[in-house]
Amino acid sequence: MWASPGLLIWGILWVMIWKGHVSPAFVEGQEEVLESLTVSSRVHSRICEHHGFRKARPHTVSILEFGAVGDGITINTHAFENAIFYLRSFADKGGAQLYVPPGHWLTGSFSLTSHLTLFIDQGAVILGTQDITKWPIIDSLPSYGRGRELPGDRHTALIYGENLTDVVITGENGTVDGQGSVWWDLHRNGSLDYTRPHLVEFINSNSILFSNVTFQNSPFWTLHPVYCSNVIFQDLTILAPHNSPNTDGIDPDSCTDVCITNSYIDVGDDAISIKSGWDEYGISYGKPSANILIRNIHAVTPTSAGVAIGSEMSGGVQNVTVENMVIKNARRGFRIKTAVGRGGYIRNVYLNHIVMQNVSTAIAFTGAYGEHPDDKYDPDAYPVVDNIVIKNVVGDLIQEAGTLFGISGAPFRNICLSQITLDVCGPFKWNCTDVEGVYSDVFPEPCPQFLNDSRQVDIVCSSEHIRHGEPDSTRSAEYDAMEKRIKLDAKATFGGSKAALWCQG
Ligand SMILES: *[C@@H]1O[C@H](CO)[C@@H](O)[C@H](O)[C@H]1NC(C)=O
Ligand SMILES: *[C@@H]1O[C@H](CO)[C@@H](O)[C@H](O)[C@H]1NC(C)=O
Ligand SMILES: *[C@@H]1O[C@H](CO)[C@@H](O)[C@H](O)[C@H]1NC(C)=O
Ligand SMILES: *[C@@H]1O[C@H](CO)[C@@H](O)[C@H](O)[C@H]1NC(C)=O
Ligand SMILES: *[C@@H]1O[C@H](CO)[C@@H](O)[C@H](O)[C@H]1NC(C)=O
Ligand SMILES: *[C@@H]1O[C@H](CO)[C@@H](O)[C@H](O)[C@H]1NC(C)=O
Ligand SMILES: *[C@@H]1O[C@H](CO)[C@@H](O)[C@H](O)[C@H]1NC(C)=O
Ligand SMILES: *[C@@H]1O[C@H](CO)[C@@H](O)[C@H](O)[C@H]1NC(C)=O
Repeated sequence: MWASPGLLIWGILWVMIWKGHVSPAFVEGQEEVLESLTVSSRVHSRICEHHGFRKARPHTVSILEFGAVGDGITINTHAFENAIFYLRSFADKGGAQLYVPPGHWLTGSFSLTSHLTLFIDQGAVILGTQDITKWPIIDSLPSYGRGRELPGDRHTALIYGENLTDVVITGENGTVDGQGSVWWDLHRNGSLDYTRPHLVEFINSNSILFSNVTFQNSPFWTLHPVYCSNVIFQDLTILAPHNSPNTDGIDPDSCTDVCITNSYIDVGDDAISIKSGWDEYGISYGKPSANILIRNIHAVTPTSAGVAIGSEMSGGVQNVTVENMVIKNARRGFRIKTAVGRGGYIRNVYLNHIVMQNVSTAIAFTGAYGEHPDDKYDPDAYPVVDNIVIKNVVGDLIQEAGTLFGISGAPFRNICLSQITLDVCGPFKWNCTDVEGVYSDVFPEPCPQFLNDSRQVDIVCSSEHIRHGEPDSTRSAEYDAMEKRIKLDAKATFGGSKAALWCQG
């Protein structure tokens, strides 16, 4: 339902664009929109459309023209650097495209430039070298005050961008492979001097698009935009072995206007984790993550969560919508993690139409996550967690519905649970402390901290400010199928033979 005149006008405009009556330039002030954006996302979402990318670059060069050799053995760092240096001269002429043809292109870290498309063709693989000295050391982030893993500086991402605008990383499902196993081993045996690098990182940049690429085997968090705005991730595959340490999929960090859509993420840590800096450093840097839309994502993560917020959230996180997500074979479905000392806030989070299958804990809040950058954090810096709406969730093979642990003296408030049906096979359903909220139509019955009040739920769960202007998307086929199955199961009583068997194992 369109709930405000503003929304109604947006809706009409988008339908007119879709039907071709109005040019997007009228709305966006943009000459061109990227062709690969689908009609459905155009109609549904503004965040996924607010961008300043060029449709086609007037100039293209191939990495071959810079002496690159795609044999998987020759190191091509200079070829990438020289090509990108050359393409800088096209910035004021609509930008340029760097074409990476089929082959295995071994390289150390390199930096991108503005108004650039990096096009990775089908059969093309950009391979990160396993010589870790080719991933140079850079400054730690001001909102972290140190490297995330080790004090001091950190290694540069394989593909890096700083202070950029209008950058596209795309292709016909080409691959960027970090060959991270050497980093995972060095991390496990404690022999690294600096924090591990990301596969791709953008700092202080805007209008960044990732589409149609497979990213795999990152040394650390895979895609890390930090202090960025207007970042779109679509049609991606992100992979890492389940036992690879800290290989999060996508981590928007102090970023605004972020769209993550139509992607498959199967990794060794959180599939998506929204962050905004760490304790006293994040508080003083003060840059929130806000206006994040996550839609049509399929996540697998046996060690971690489908979507997490935190634990680094000291600059604040607000206006997060997660819709039509499928979370399978996961330790946790949705997770909030924070700690005393973080400060900041997490508010206006809206989850809708979520399917979970074989998830140990469907919903997990922890206010005692720990992990501080140093002992200078403020013990009075209490995080605020407020207005978390979780509705239309179906799940089976769930071990616990929820472990919701807030903070004593700073309870998590206005948690709204609505239309949730979970086939829970473990003996403990919900376990809560220091949380307050309302529910309606939730099975199994939530903890006593939640008030059964459908009128309050209508007010708290549906309010416009929670949905921050994003119209609801339609539910997915997966959701319909799971709901049907669950309703059949419900007749035969939940926790039946299949689930019980799994829980025993
Ligand atoms: C990016 O911008 C910041 C702030 O203006 C500046 O300090 C930094 O040197 C710039 N970095 C690069 C690589 O241009
Ligand atoms: C993205 O991938 C889809 C499916 O493989 C393909 O149809 C489409 O042409 C690709 N788009 C671009 C811009 O490469
Ligand atoms: C892209 O490649 C990955 C493997 O690298 C594959 O799993 C995925 O299905 C491919 N996606 C498309 C749209 O072809
Ligand atoms: C740590 O792992 C690396 C990579 O496997 C190996 O080369 C190195 O010898 C190991 N160091 C120690 C102290 O075990
Ligand atoms: C459930 O997920 C775990 C990994 O978290 C996997 O090992 C197991 O095979 C899955 N079980 C089913 C029934 O899919
Ligand atoms: C709830 O969680 C607490 C803390 O982890 C644990 O001590 C307690 O046994 C749990 N209770 C139930 C019923 O699961
Ligand atoms: C919750 O409220 C609904 C509607 O008022 C009612 O039908 C249901 O029995 C209540 N559940 C519990 C456990 O009180
Ligand atoms: C969050 O959404 C509300 C409601 O749409 C909006 O007023 C507010 O500006 C948003 N917050 C940020 C930081 O953009």
